Amino acid sequence: MKTALVTGASRGIGAAIARDLSRDHHVIVGATSQAGAEAIVDTLADASCFVVDLNDPAALAAATKDIEQLDVLVHSAGVAPLARVENATRQQWLDAFELNVFAVAELTQLLLPALRAAKGTVVSINSGSGYHSGAGSAIYSGTKFALRALTDALREEELGRIRVSSIHPGRVDTDMQRQLQSSMGNSDYDGSLYLRPESVAAAVRLAVDASDDASVQELSIRPSGLERN
Ligand SMILES: NC(=O)c1ccc[n+]([C@@H]2O[C@H](COP(=O)([O-])OP(=O)(O)OC[C@H]3O[C@@H](n4cnc5c(N)ncnc54)[C@H](OP(=O)(O)O)[C@@H]3O)[C@@H](O)[C@H]2O)c1
Repeated sequence: MKTALVTGASRGIGAAIARDLSRDHHVIVGATSQAGAEAIVDTLADASCFVVDLNDPAALAAATKDIEQLDVLVHSAGVAPLARVENATRQQWLDAFELNVFAVAELTQLLLPALRAAKGTVVSINSGSGYHSGAGSAIYSGTKFALRALTDALREEELGRIRVSSIHPGRVDTDMQRQLQSSMGNSDYDGSLYLRPESVAAAVRLAVDASDDASVQELSIRPSGLERN
């Protein structure tokens, strides 16, 4: 049985990816709390918990030390602060870069031997915001631009050893999107306008199932009914 580790798998996109990959993988479910991880693990046929604050390097090292072989690593955990440059705080910049970029680099580095051993696939859940920025998006887009730089470099460095995919969803109906819409003053949230997490999981599946001769390097997936997303 192949093994996949999915960060941010307690909710939203990560949970949908964990469910989908569990059809043919042992899934290691990442979350910040035991209860959050178990709520998903208990619904899957073959899964285990990976309870760690990704911003804690010592905890990360301890949590990964026994993983010797890993077929799939999906980075889905993330935060999306909404702040204009004029009032963004230094702490908001630091917190977002720590989780969306530094933790991705660190976790990948720790698991490279296990991924190489399996000729594995790394999948980063980036965003449309990894390609463009706009009002209120300096921090979030900044982290996703940086994540794209990290992913592009890793892909070249690991050529022939592991495959590296960057998935760029538009707006997805999750807690993160609900919070963003509420911060923007949108009180008429209609999740049906946005992508379903399962649709993003299907894009990840395409990358994971690509034949050995192929690597899905970048994939954009947008809500079919929204003009700007
Ligand atoms: N939603 C969208 O519209 C959208 C669009 C494009 C891209 N994305 C990207 O997709 C990814 C997933 O987003 P989502 O909408 O599924 O988010 P979400 O529903 O807010 O879920 C966030 C996940 O990240 C985990 N997490 C947060 N802080 C963490 C930390 N310090 N250590 C470990 N895990 C942590 C959470 O775990 P707990 O439950 O334990 O807190 C949760 O599982 C993100 O990278 C996001 O940028 C989202």
